[in-house]
Amino acid sequence: MDLKGKKIVLGLSGGVACYKAAELCRALAREGATVHVVMTEAASHFITAVTMQALSGNPVFTDQWDARVANNMAHIDLTRGADAVLIAPCSADFMRKLAHGVCDDLLSTLCLARPHLVPLLIAPAMNVEMWQNLATQRNAKQLRADGVRILGPAAGEQACGEVGLGRMLEPLDLLDELVASFQLKVLAGKRVLITAGPTFEAIDPVRGITNLSSGKMGYAIARAAREAGADVQLVSGPTALATPHGVRRTNVQSAQQMHDAVMAQLKGQHVFIGVAAVADWRVVNASDQKMKKQDGAIPTLEFAQNADILADVAATTSISGWPYCVGFAAESENLLDYGATKREKKGIPLLVGNIGHHTFGQDDNEIILFDESGHTVLPRADKLTLARQLISEIAKRLEQRSLLK
Ligand code: CTP
Repeated sequence: MDLKGKKIVLGLSGGVACYKAAELCRALAREGATVHVVMTEAASHFITAVTMQALSGNPVFTDQWDARVANNMAHIDLTRGADAVLIAPCSADFMRKLAHGVCDDLLSTLCLARPHLVPLLIAPAMNVEMWQNLATQRNAKQLRADGVRILGPAAGEQACGEVGLGRMLEPLDLLDELVASFQLKVLAGKRVLITAGPTFEAIDPVRGITNLSSGKMGYAIARAAREAGADVQLVSGPTALATPHGVRRTNVQSAQQMHDAVMAQLKGQHVFIGVAAVADWRVVNASDQKMKKQDGAIPTLEFAQNADILADVAATTSISGWPYCVGFAAESENLLDYGATKREKKGIPLLVGNIGHHTFGQDDNEIILFDESGHTVLPRADKLTLARQLISEIAKRLEQRSLLK
C-alpha cells in the first residue's frame, strides 16, 4: 500500500483519455490513497461522475457552485490537507489555464488556490499536433518553471488515428510516478547501472543452463533507484518482469553478453549494483544444431569459467573511484563468514547477503549489508521496501565518501 494515508485530488479535464482515469482512480484507491475526484464540464462528456464516485468511494465535484461542502468553498477545502493534485488527463486547454492562472471553473480555481507546498502533477493527453504546437510547448515550459511536474506524454497511436507524442501515460505508470514523487531524491543527478535476473548458457539452439533467479530483487532496486531520482540502466537476463517505468533496459542471455553490455555502458556511471545471478561457467562445446539422441550415447559437456562482471567493474574503479560497487551474495550456509570474505575478495565497498538461499522468486526477502565497518541486518520485508532501504544506505555511503574526499 504505497499511498496509505495519502490524500490525492484527482482532476479530470476533457479528453478521450478520461476512460483511463477510471483505472487510475481504482489503482490509487487500491494503494491506500483517499481520492477526491474533481471533473471539468468537458470531462463529464467523456466519463460520468457516477463511475468516478463508485471507484473513488467519495463524492465527485464538477461544479464550482456545488453546495455540498458546508462552507460552500470546495475550491479551498479540497486541497487543504491534500498530499498532491494530479490532473489526468490534462488537456491542452487546461494546460493553458494552469500556465496563465485562469480560474473559471472548480478544477482550475482549486489548482490556483492550493497551498504552494501541495505538488501539482499533470498528465497531458492530446493530439500530436496540439502537443507539438508552439503555444502548448510555451505553456509546458512555463508550467515546468512554475514547479508543475509534467508526466509524459507517451508516444504511439492515438485515438484520432494519428501517431506521435500526446498519449496519456498508462494508469499504472502514472501511479508509479505519483508514488515516486513522495520518495526522497537521494540519488538525484546520479547514474546507476544494475544487472538483474538469471543468465542462460546455451547447450544447443533449444537447450541451456540457467538458474532460479526471477529478477524481482534487481528490478525492485532499479525502480527504487529511479524513484530516488537516478538515471537508471538495467542489464537483464531473461525474466518475465515488466521494465520499471522510466528505467532503460538492455536484454541479454549469457554471462558473456551481460559482461559485454555492462562494460559498454560503464563509462560515467556513479553506482554499479550486481544483482544478477550470473552463471559461473559456460558450455564450450555447445552445438550449433539441436543435439539428437543417438543410440543411448550420453553427451558430455565441457565448461569454461565466465568472467566475473562485478570484480571486473570493481577493478576499473581504482583510477576515478567510480562507480561505487555493490555486490550480492546468495549463500546456503555461513553467510556471515562468506559475506565478509566475498566482499573483500571482490574488492567492493558494499555487499548484500541474502539470508537463506530460498529468496529466488519470492516477493519478500531478508538481507545483511556487509561493509568495511561490519554488518547490518535489514529485517524481512517485501523486496521493494528492502530495495528502497538499500538505495538510501547506498546514498548515505556516497555522501560520506564525498565528505571524506
Ligand atoms: N557476479 C558477477 N559475475 C559473475 C559471477 C558473479 O558479476 N560471473 C556477481 C553477482 O552479480 C553478485 C556477486 O558477483 O553480485 C556474487 O555472486 P555469487 O555467485 O554469490 O559469488 P561468486 O563470486 O560466484 O562466488 P561463489 O559461487 O563461489 O559463492
